[in-house]
Amino acid sequence: MLTGGGDCPGLNAVLRAIVRNAIGHGWECIGINNGWKGLMEIDARPLSMDSVSGILQKGGTILGTSRTNPYKQKNGEELVIENSKKLGIDALVAIGGEDTLGVANKLSKTGYKVVGVPKTIDNDLNGTDYTFGFDTAVNIAMDAIDRIHTTAESHHRAMIVEVMGRHAGWIAMHAGIAGGADMILIPEREIRLQEIIDLMNKRRKRGRTFSIIVVAEGAQLSKEDFENSKLVTQDEKLDAFGHIRLGGIANVLAEIIEKRTEVETRAVTLGHIQRGGSPTAFDRVLGSRFGVYAVEMVKQGKFGRMAALQGTEIVDITIDEAVNTLKTVSNEFYDVARVFFR
Ligand code: F6P
Repeated sequence: MLTGGGDCPGLNAVLRAIVRNAIGHGWECIGINNGWKGLMEIDARPLSMDSVSGILQKGGTILGTSRTNPYKQKNGEELVIENSKKLGIDALVAIGGEDTLGVANKLSKTGYKVVGVPKTIDNDLNGTDYTFGFDTAVNIAMDAIDRIHTTAESHHRAMIVEVMGRHAGWIAMHAGIAGGADMILIPEREIRLQEIIDLMNKRRKRGRTFSIIVVAEGAQLSKEDFENSKLVTQDEKLDAFGHIRLGGIANVLAEIIEKRTEVETRAVTLGHIQRGGSPTAFDRVLGSRFGVYAVEMVKQGKFGRMAALQGTEIVDITIDEAVNTLKTVSNEFYDVARVFFR
């Protein structure tokens, strides 16, 4: 098994469940260190009942992770296949998001035996209602919004809270609704400045002297308001999967809003705090169910498939289906949130 991409609360619950179930079947388990990097470098270790004892409540991943993409390196695919043979791997459980599972998908088309487990705090993987890690991130963000209310209210400020969400606004939507935000801005909808200003003025007229706006890091200012509207990034560097480091939209917005409304406005970026610490009960249970199921998928030879939560059931879908489209926030769901933008 390997864990790839950003770390995520609940990863250890998955690892523990895989090992427990697989050893119960009489199989041997190998943990690959640091995602695909470990398979490129043969960096692996045996996993026993003991090695996964006491990890359920721990954040991060005991295996370590990386954003290494074998397909970006010369003969990467061949190396992964060859090294897997050297390690005596009969089947691999790849635990990751669109990038890690994208690699698993390509490998599986060569006949490589791999099953997937969906991981991302962003909850944007297609074909599964939820990914583990999302619930923890939402609860951390909600708690932060609750705390930010204190300063907003006491200082009569507007507070812009930036949460993660590269292509999809799931964390912003859930944390924003749960935290009682005045407005939620997501990548699926361009930010209309006038709407924010009108709302803030309306609230002030009603005697509400503070505002809390939740914005996803991947949200963009409307082209009508800003000719050169683009994603706000920390720098121009791309990772091995071609992603840029997002972050900073809250600061940009705070400056513009303060200028336009003359209301003191501050930005708070939650960043990696959202991925940190102990997973919620929901994520521990979901991770455990995915881990147990992944072993059953291997047993039944369901390769090239990914465990998924649909309704209350764990099912399996093709990895293709999971990685080829993103699951984004629907207009219907956004309309529910809009009821509270008043
Ligand atoms: O994919 C999950 C995610 O949390 C994104 O929302 C975010 O843009 C990215 O990871 C940041 O990760 P890192 O700073 O670890 O590269």
